Amino acid sequence: MKKSASVLIVEDDEKMRDLLRKIITREGYPVEEAANGDAALTLIEKNVYDIVLTDVKMPGLDGIELLKEIKKISARTYVIIMTAFGTIGSAVEAMKQGAYDYISKPFKLDEIQILIRKILEEKALRQEVDHLRKEVRRRYRFNNIIGKSKEMQEVFDLIEKISPGKSTILIHGKSGTGKELVAKAIHYNSPRRNKPFVPVNCSAIPETLLESELFGHIKGAFTGAVATHVGLFEEADGGTLFLDEVGELSPAIQVKLLRVLQEREIKPVGGTQSRKIDIRLITATNRDLHEMVKEGTFREDLYYRLNVIPIHLPPLKVRTEDIPLLVRHFLTRFGKENQRPEMTISREALHPLMNYSWPGNIRELENIIERAVILCKENEVTRDDLPPHLLQESADNRRGPDLLHLSLREVEMAHIKRILESVGGHKMKAAEILRIDRRTLYRKLQHDDA
Ligand SMILES: Nc1ncnc2c1ncn2[C@@H]1O[C@H](COP(=O)(O)OP(=O)(O)OP(=O)(O)O)[C@@H](O)[C@H]1O
Ligand SMILES: [Mg+2]
Repeated sequence: MKKSASVLIVEDDEKMRDLLRKIITREGYPVEEAANGDAALTLIEKNVYDIVLTDVKMPGLDGIELLKEIKKISARTYVIIMTAFGTIGSAVEAMKQGAYDYISKPFKLDEIQILIRKILEEKALRQEVDHLRKEVRRRYRFNNIIGKSKEMQEVFDLIEKISPGKSTILIHGKSGTGKELVAKAIHYNSPRRNKPFVPVNCSAIPETLLESELFGHIKGAFTGAVATHVGLFEEADGGTLFLDEVGELSPAIQVKLLRVLQEREIKPVGGTQSRKIDIRLITATNRDLHEMVKEGTFREDLYYRLNVIPIHLPPLKVRTEDIPLLVRHFLTRFGKENQRPEMTISREALHPLMNYSWPGNIRELENIIERAVILCKENEVTRDDLPPHLLQESADNRRGPDLLHLSLREVEMAHIKRILESVGGHKMKAAEILRIDRRTLYRKLQHDDA
């Protein structure tokens, strides 16, 4: 893939300017020109350039002064200074002021090409390092998503299928069901894995700032915009942008997002120039967007653009078979973190976890296990280490819903199971309470398995 960079040439000598434009255009980069430092500054205040190639000696604002201004407005821009023969002093000064490099005139044509390529490589590297630094302590590989339930197996299959592509994905699920985890799994299993994964929580950013956060702004675009700001869309260039809580977007931002998705380019607030961007978009919501479309609070056209591939993450209470696995996963993790590598959980403590309704889903389970690992006395989590409200609710749930729709056999089995649970699975004791002999109990249980 060809890397792209926008270049501004600042040179008062027209012939020289033409020559430079030809060389750089031939390399395939978009080029703009300015005949002096002041004209350049006007452009720089309106647009974001990756590279500014400037002459030192110019009437008005000279190259070094221009460099200082650029550093104030847009620190990410690479500046190359062109010095004339015998002005090595200004080259030294330029490097001190933060120029990326200098070339002395006359130069060979390929010097410029090599320099630009070098900058692009460095830019990509810098982007990657920034991003690795942020991610290094996190674990978001596919095998960190736990689940053997049919529902989760379907999610895994889907992640595998869609990761290699670029299609837009909408993840729907209640709070704490793993939406962000799935978004990351898709990114890290995609060819974009070495580029940034940029998560944005739309509901956490005030509406007035959201546009500039997403699309960036130009210096002076509004009061307080003292420097050019690169938006999150651009930060995610080449990678994945994850827009969380997308149901919270205001109508005004919905329109802007729709336009970006249609054009695949962004325009910073206050800017005149659009920039192409290459991102994969994943959005998530815990709201029913379809319902919101019907109510008229979410744009239908945007909904269809976002909902190209839907993924639904079911709440934990409908996949109780995943609970023991998740408990073990978190015991191991928090055990390690707390220097208790051999953590286990007692049967009596597991039961209430299976009967609880988990309104906060996996995040809640994660928190409860973390707390229990810290509280427990030995290396075993017991009932006493679980929060009272959880024990209470799960006991209420176990007392059961009404039995009116159950058959006699089902009522019998439900009763047997309750008794068994109450004695921690001890069959002798259960048989005693039920006043049947042990073999009868075994037979009834076997019958149930069949
Ligand atoms: N299947 C899973 N296996 C292991 N850990 C999980 C799983 N699902 C979620 N988690 C963990 O649960 C926590 C919540 O997950 P995540 O932040 O992805 O949820 P979310 O749906 O984005 O929640 P919210 O709507 O509150 O933002 C995270 O710490 C995540 O690592
Ligand atoms: Mg989330």
